[in-house]
Amino acid sequence: MKKYYTAEASEIIGKSQKTIIRWDDEGKLKALREPVTNKRYYTTDMLLPFTDDFQAEYISEKSNKVVPQEQFTVLELFAGAGGLAIGLEQAGIKCVALNEIDKYACQTLRANRPKWNVLEGDIKQYDFSNYKGQADIVTGGFPCQSFSYAGKRLGLEDARGTLFYEFARAVKEVEPLICVGENVRGLLNHDGGKTLQGMISILDEIGYRVMPVQVLKAINYKVPQKRERLILVGVRKDIAFDFEYPKPYKRIYNLEDALKQGDLFDTDVPKSIGAKYPVSKKEVLDLVPQKGYWRDLPIELQKQFMGKSFYLGGGKTGMARRIGWDEPCLTLTCSPAQKQTERCHPEETRPFTVREYARIQTFPDNWEFKGSAAHQYKQIGNAVPVNLGKEIGYSLVSFLNKYYS
Ligand SMILES: C[S@@+](CC[C@H](N)C(=O)[O-])C[C@H]1O[C@@H](n2cnc3c(N)ncnc32)[C@H](O)[C@@H]1O
Repeated sequence: MKKYYTAEASEIIGKSQKTIIRWDDEGKLKALREPVTNKRYYTTDMLLPFTDDFQAEYISEKSNKVVPQEQFTVLELFAGAGGLAIGLEQAGIKCVALNEIDKYACQTLRANRPKWNVLEGDIKQYDFSNYKGQADIVTGGFPCQSFSYAGKRLGLEDARGTLFYEFARAVKEVEPLICVGENVRGLLNHDGGKTLQGMISILDEIGYRVMPVQVLKAINYKVPQKRERLILVGVRKDIAFDFEYPKPYKRIYNLEDALKQGDLFDTDVPKSIGAKYPVSKKEVLDLVPQKGYWRDLPIELQKQFMGKSFYLGGGKTGMARRIGWDEPCLTLTCSPAQKQTERCHPEETRPFTVREYARIQTFPDNWEFKGSAAHQYKQIGNAVPVNLGKEIGYSLVSFLNKYYS
C-alpha cells in the first residue's frame, strides 16, 4: 500500500485540484508539504475520511504478494526479452532455463542475467527430459497456429508441426506441477474456438487439468497499458486443488505514471534511442491533441491522410492517435509507428522511445535490450508486461506453497 499521495489525492477523494487547494487554505484537509519542492502531499489516513467505500478500498487494498516458502523453479519457453521471466523472478521464482530462437532476444537475456541458462535456437531441436524433476513450472508464450482436424478429440500427435505441440511436448518431458501458456485474446476465437479447445484436450491427454481460461487485463495489475493476455493453466492431475488467478487491483496507472517519477518509477524516464516520424506524418500529427486521433484533423486533411479508408466507415481510432498523460497507453505493438496503431507521445510529436516503450511494459530501467532499435522495439512489444508476470508469479508461488506444505 502506498504511503503518500500527491496529485492523485484529488482523484481519490473525487474533488478537483481547485477544491483540494481551497480545503487546504480553509484547514478542512490540511496538506503536508515536501521540504524541497513545497508540493502538497497527503497520507492515506488523511484521505480516508473523505472517501467512499470503493475509494477507501482502492487506497488500502492488499497486495497479492506471497513469499515463497522454498526456492521454486521455472522452465520458460519462447522467452523473448524476458518480460515474463523477470516478472516471475521478481515474485521469487528461479529460472532453470529459458529457450528462445531470436538471437538478439537471447543477447538481451544473457547481457542482463549472465547466469541464466539461455538455450538459444528453435525449440524443436531441444529435448527437455533432463529438466524432469528440476522445474516446478513450465511457462511459454507459444505463437498461435491452427491445427488440422480429423473431426475428433485432439491428441498430442495431431498437433505435430505447431509450436503449441512443442510447448506440450516440453510439459510432457518435464512433468512440472503446473504449466502456464500465455497468448493473445484472439486465441479464444481462433478457428471458431477450436484451436483453444484442441489445446485444452491435448493438455488433458498428457495429464494436466486445465483451469477455466482467463483473459487478464494488464491495467488491473499495475501496468499503465490497456494490454490483455490469455492465460492457459494446466495443473498436474495428481494435484487436487486449483490454481487461483491473481486478484485485480482497483488502481489504474496511466502514461504519466509510466514516464514520470511517481508510484511506478522513482525517476523520470531516462533518455534513449527512438524512432522518428517522416516530416509529412509529423505535420499531420502536430495537429492532433492528446487523446485525439484522425477525426481531430481538418476535414480535408482527414480525407488526404485516410485515403480510401475515409469513406469505408468504422472508427479506426488507432490512426493518427496521440496518447494522453492521464490515460493508460493503448497496447504496444512490435513497431512504434504503424499507421493503424499509432501511439504518438502526448506532448512531442514522435513515437515513444525504446526506454519509454520499456517503461510502458514495466521493464526496470536497468534492463538493457540488444540489437538495432527495430529489434529492441520488437522484443519489448512482444513481451508480457513485467508487472503482470510478477502477479501471475505470486499466484504460482501461492499454489506451490500450498503443494509443498
Ligand atoms: C510472445 S513472444 C514471448 C514473449 C516473452 N514471454 C516475454 O514475456 O518477453 C514469443 C517468442 O517466441 C519466439 N519463438 C518463435 N518461434 C520459436 C521457436 N521455434 N523456438 C523458440 N522460440 C521461438 C519468438 O522469437 C518470440 O520471442
